[in-house]
Amino acid sequence: MRPLNKCESLILLGCGGHGRVLLAALQAGGGKKDVIGIIDPVATKLRGTFAEIPLLGQEEELTFNYPPTEVSLLNGVGSVGSTAKRAEVYNKFLQDGYKFATVIHPTANIADDVVVGEGAQIMAGAIIQTGCSIGDNVLINSGVVVEHDTKIADHVHIATGAVVAGGVEIGVGAHIGCGATIIQGVVVGASSVVGAGAVVLDNVPDGVVVVGVPAAVLA
Ligand SMILES: CC(C)(COP(=O)(O)OP(=O)(O)OC[C@H]1O[C@@H](n2cnc3c(N)ncnc32)[C@H](O)[C@@H]1OP(=O)(O)O)[C@@H](O)C(=O)NCCC(=O)NCCS
Repeated sequence: MRPLNKCESLILLGCGGHGRVLLAALQAGGGKKDVIGIIDPVATKLRGTFAEIPLLGQEEELTFNYPPTEVSLLNGVGSVGSTAKRAEVYNKFLQDGYKFATVIHPTANIADDVVVGEGAQIMAGAIIQTGCSIGDNVLINSGVVVEHDTKIADHVHIATGAVVAGGVEIGVGAHIGCGATIIQGVVVGASSVVGAGAVVLDNVPDGVVVVGVPAAVLA
């Protein structure tokens, strides 16, 4: 794991399933010690610690006590369909002046020329080949394969075990379901959702849900 921002102190937003996976990635890379606190809306009334990290309470606690000059953030919000909540959290705190740390699990295999955006998260065992670009706040989950020259726009989540072939373009905020396959050269539209296990052979318009083999728009 290498948080790419200069600021070493990190605060995790959300300690649900994805937040805990992020902590595990940080643990694997030796960066968990940099996480100085957790803000979580569900755990908001709790005090004490989670995974030995202090629970800091509500968002106001963050903005009041931890200004953007002192900490970077980790987006612990995952997605199982729409990525809207994940993007909303990112954009809100970006507007407030915060930066998000980029997290790359030490077992991810990323070609040297791949451009990785701010706040992107690349999880265990992911493979990203030459010529790819990864936007801001993108989540490439465990075991994903992204082949050469694929362009992934901001806020996209490629879920566990999906395979994206070469020269694919994935629009802002799309969610690619776990185990899905996207063949070469396809364009997946912004905010679209590709269902788990789908095989995408043709371009997907903006804002639709496609499922099945071959993938078709969910009526
Ligand atoms: C595609 C998806 C977003 C649809 O969710 P939804 O809008 O709640 O849809 P529903 O569960 O109501 O299902 C609607 C119909 O689509 C079918 N369907 C849903 N997901 C499907 C999939 N992945 N493949 C094939 N058919 C699917 C359902 O069987 C149902 O069919 P029916 O109307 O004939 O009964 C969701 O099923 C999915 O695949 N999400 C991805 C999950 C994921 O990636 N998780 C990993 C997180 S790391």
